[in-house]
Amino acid sequence: MDEKLVKKRRIVLVPVPAQGHVTPIMQLGKALHSKGFSITVIQTQYNRVSSSKDFSDFNFLTIPGSLTDSDLKNLGPVQFLMKLNQACEASFKQCLGQILKEQGDNDEIACVIYDEYMSLSKAAAKEFQLPSVVFSTTSATAFLCRSVIAKVNADKFLIDMKDLELQDKLFPGLHPLRYKDLPTSAFGPIESIPRVYSETVNTGTASAVIINTANCLESSSLARLQRQLQVPVYPIGPLHIAAFAPSSLIEEDRSCIEWLNMQKPTSVIYISLGSLALMEAKDMLEMAWGLSNSNQHFLWVIRPGSIPASEWTESLPEEFTKLVSERGYIVKWAPQMEVLKHPAVGGFWSHCGWNSTLESIGEGVPMICRPFTGDQKVNARYLENVWRIGVQLEGELEKEVVERAVKRLLVDEEGAYMRKRAIELKEKLESSVRSGGSSCSSLDDFINSLKMKSS
Ligand code: UDX
Repeated sequence: MDEKLVKKRRIVLVPVPAQGHVTPIMQLGKALHSKGFSITVIQTQYNRVSSSKDFSDFNFLTIPGSLTDSDLKNLGPVQFLMKLNQACEASFKQCLGQILKEQGDNDEIACVIYDEYMSLSKAAAKEFQLPSVVFSTTSATAFLCRSVIAKVNADKFLIDMKDLELQDKLFPGLHPLRYKDLPTSAFGPIESIPRVYSETVNTGTASAVIINTANCLESSSLARLQRQLQVPVYPIGPLHIAAFAPSSLIEEDRSCIEWLNMQKPTSVIYISLGSLALMEAKDMLEMAWGLSNSNQHFLWVIRPGSIPASEWTESLPEEFTKLVSERGYIVKWAPQMEVLKHPAVGGFWSHCGWNSTLESIGEGVPMICRPFTGDQKVNARYLENVWRIGVQLEGELEKEVVERAVKRLLVDEEGAYMRKRAIELKEKLESSVRSGGSSCSSLDDFINSLKMKSS
């Protein structure tokens, strides 16, 4: 590292307090730390990462907010984030000011990297004249969608989105996405979408956008995004391959690995719907009977509280519980990356959160895609239509459909072809993060851009 960068060698990270956002930003921290930077994580008191042995070199600072228990329980993700940003803006500014006051000569802040949903960072970084960088934990295509929609006529967009006949049609300019694939539903009422999108794609005073993706997955979306944004875009992922950093906020049940050890290669379907998705009890039953009728082995993550009005698995019928002891295993939370790496796993039934998508492709595992909301719909469409390593389940979930999808992936020749394509993509992803690969070079370019700012 040159002398200027030695002085400005601290990077401040600002995560969203949710698993799907904490994981990639901590991986980014690891990647930057390996390049010689000191890392300070400023996090809110909600859902904190601990300074475990994996991050013993990081500095963690926690800022207070004023959200009530009822806010934490009742607000949807977008309303929660909006309130969180308001509630913590002042304490964030104070915290950043304090770091600047106390920083040593060789430990100045090079930049603040904030999750795209932590807009509270913008004002403070601007006030202290610190370079700020947006970190997108979703795909480049999801970012592009928001950027395209932010520019279309809002009134027409709202009319079109309510037109049921349009839902299966392609959305202009976003091939192969259809109206119904747009990353809308996680963002509150449809009426608020054009405004919310303008805010999230407005990079403001940020000097760059870092995206957890790779060129080989989304080259055309990345090229378009680069043309649309006023600042450089750095695709530096998949970060879980580039810089592994275990940061589970929930305790992992490792007993499932022992169970997997007893299964035949590619014989198990792994089912997990990420950290936020809620499933209706009737869908859970269709899944259970579909799995049962498929005659295949399964490892199923059922997060406590993910089925409304149920603590955990009590709504599963007794006959199914018996079947679990014969050819299934249920846990509350799994060590997902290790599970996907396991030779027994032949397919992944996923809600298609971006991390799960990258982790599955990164292990060459084909997917059954059942997106719930937001960017998951974009990812599912790409998995089935662009990368052709997924089977998307649309419409009502019925046991016959579940049975068919599981067999397509684990038994049919079609599944073997998808696995072959997934393994080819895995190899491309691995080369992209190796020295000379596109993501590795992009990270170097980003670091060099910091040097230029320091001069
Ligand atoms: C959220 C959004 O829902 C998602 O659409 C967006 O792309 C990122 O933020 P989440 O729903 O939790 O994330 O899904 P995902 O992005 O897949 O992240 C889940 C993370 O939890 C993954 O890194 C996965 O490895 C981990 N996980 C999940 C476990 O470690 N164990 C489990 O049992 C389940």
